[in-house]
Amino acid sequence: MTFTEEALTTAGPVTGWSGAPDYFAIREYSGFDPHAVVDVLRGRIAGAMFRGMVDPETCGTLAERFWASPHRRTRGVEAPGHFLGAYHYHKTTRTYLQESAEAAEAVDAVLDVPGDPIKRFHQGLADVLAPDGVHVRLAQHDGAQACRGLLRSWHGHGEYALAPHDDRSQCTEPQQADFEIQRVVDHNVVALNICLENGNGGRLAYWNVQPDDASKLRLGLHHTGSPYPLESLDGVEMEWLEVNAGDVYVFNGAHVHAVEPNTDPELRRTTLAAIFGFIDDSTVVSWT
Ligand SMILES: [Fe+2]
Repeated sequence: MTFTEEALTTAGPVTGWSGAPDYFAIREYSGFDPHAVVDVLRGRIAGAMFRGMVDPETCGTLAERFWASPHRRTRGVEAPGHFLGAYHYHKTTRTYLQESAEAAEAVDAVLDVPGDPIKRFHQGLADVLAPDGVHVRLAQHDGAQACRGLLRSWHGHGEYALAPHDDRSQCTEPQQADFEIQRVVDHNVVALNICLENGNGGRLAYWNVQPDDASKLRLGLHHTGSPYPLESLDGVEMEWLEVNAGDVYVFNGAHVHAVEPNTDPELRRTTLAAIFGFIDDSTVVSWT
């Protein structure tokens, strides 16, 4: 019996909330439409894809600077991933914000292009939410600010380059109980991905299930949301999303999702990412 079979026998299939057909879709747009981001934030639709929002030249410049940056770091031992910026996963609030401050200059140096895509995204979102009295800002704590964008590239060689996971569970990390981002779990946790380069493959797999607490507890994923054994997702509706350089997409991160590996390990999949959501009726915060 393999580890996953054992996990399935003891844990059973994932159960949870699944959306109706008019919700479970990643709606396609040519270019940026921040109103669609609001639809995802408000839980009216699962996701939105903005094709070609970032021009090829900008993508090339950002990817080049990322790979050339002396501040790029690796994560993991087997097939390590590369990243620049900070990520909050499994850290104390203090450590995450400290790392965010340390990385800020290096991240800004990479993103210093005309039409910085993170700035464009935040400004567009802020403009459409302003009439409703909603402010968009970086998450903060004790005067320190979250990282505004995480550049990353994986080279996973398994069935998925990034195993099936959800982005919501990690927002209940006990070490971050004092951090305002945890209030996003009462709303929708939305993932932002800006694709800079994507070799071949590298599609997003997106399942129509937001796992319930009972499933997470049985699988031991309550505060991590990763990895869901593939077998536990058998029979769950799933969509593939093609992703190309320049595409920007957002989706409800409470749904299980995964990233397909490139068929050619020489080719790189590099993205600029963040997570965001409402923490109260008038505030959207972003972090990484
Ligand atoms: Fe994710």
